Amino acid sequence: MTNVLDGVRDHYRATGLVERLRTALAALGPEDQLLTPRQLAALDQFHTRGLAATAELARLAGISADTSVLDVGSGVGGPARFLAATHGCRVTGLDLSEAFVDAARYLTGRTGQSAQVSFQTGSALELPFDDGRFDIVLLQHVAMNIFDRTQLYREIRRVLKSGGRFATFDVVSLGGEPHYPVPWARTPATSFLLTAAATREAIEPAGFRALAWQDDTEAAKA
Ligand SMILES: C[S@@+](CC[C@H](N)C(=O)[O-])C[C@H]1O[C@@H](n2cnc3c(N)ncnc32)[C@H](O)[C@@H]1O
Repeated sequence: MTNVLDGVRDHYRATGLVERLRTALAALGPEDQLLTPRQLAALDQFHTRGLAATAELARLAGISADTSVLDVGSGVGGPARFLAATHGCRVTGLDLSEAFVDAARYLTGRTGQSAQVSFQTGSALELPFDDGRFDIVLLQHVAMNIFDRTQLYREIRRVLKSGGRFATFDVVSLGGEPHYPVPWARTPATSFLLTAAATREAIEPAGFRALAWQDDTEAAKA
């Protein structure tokens, strides 16, 4: 399924992203002036309900200063920076898109968090980490691009410590086909929505027991 991954990578290709961010951020002050993660929130939270959703997911996951967090599909790193700034934890972000990883590193330099928050390129289906490495894994608005959910959740379980927690916030199907293009895919070739029930059925056999499960449809619409 390399062609699917190439298609997803292509969807999130972003030419000159760092330069574009540099230009946009000039309005907030000179390059050597540190920014706060909150100042970036309008452009670096790449999911429905933005910062509010990340904050709520972190609360449900029970993130604290002594937890090591992996953010799978970390985008340009907004959630990772916010979690580190708010909870004092160390965060590793992993993303398929090299352009997003470059942008995430650039923005993290601008907030002065590079010692606490790091990013690397890689696939969620083959996480480049040892077994049992993280306390918490986060996955926000990524699963809809993943063709093999069994492998995705199995990999997440593998890199979690025993007793670790997985926190996910994703788009689910309410039935019917989306009208393409949608924000995560131009065509059905790179879109793999499941219903909420099917998502849960894919997660639990990987070795998870649900501690909380909620439908945010109304809040997302609002
Ligand atoms: C809508 S963005 C969400 C980014 C981030 N989670 C956030 O909420 O700000 C989806 C991200 O998932 C990444 N992604 C999609 N498929 C992936 C895969 N198989 N492995 C790693 N990252 C993937 C994309 O490159 C993109 O950055």
